[in-house]
Amino acid sequence: MKHRLLAIAAALLLAGPAFAVTKTIELPADGVQLTPSSLPGYAKAKADCVACHSAEYMLYQPPTAPRGYWELMVKRMKAVFNGPIPDADMPDIVDYLVKTYGNEQPKK
Ligand code: HEC
Repeated sequence: MKHRLLAIAAALLLAGPAFAVTKTIELPADGVQLTPSSLPGYAKAKADCVACHSAEYMLYQPPTAPRGYWELMVKRMKAVFNGPIPDADMPDIVDYLVKTYGNEQPKK
């Protein structure tokens, strides 16, 4: 990540006098991990859901999102992006997601 920041700063500097002021660009943190859980879907989500993107994407979903929303999300990852997600894993993954990031989270 640091390297990319440096590369951007260098590119801006090389772009000429108009960009002589070094800009710092805040990129989102890499490597957000899935929230640990004792639910069986946790391990399956670790195996199936973070190969293409970090768990940050889960954090940005509405905490009011119901089970059906997560079901569609998981199916979309498979159907649209060709995610290697076994159908047999889906119920457990959805269960983990809705209880960890959706509207079935334990009341705090
Ligand atoms: C094959 C790669 C791949 C896998 C595997 C994958 N995703 Fe994604 N996911 C993507 C891509 C690409 C996007 C960005 C889509 C966009 O920008 O519209 C995305 C976006 C998301 C988002 C952001 C919301 C949205 O609508 O864009 C969520 C949440 C998400 N994925 C959850 C999951 C979950 C849960 C799993 C596991 C079941 C999973 N992903 C597995 C490729 C993948």
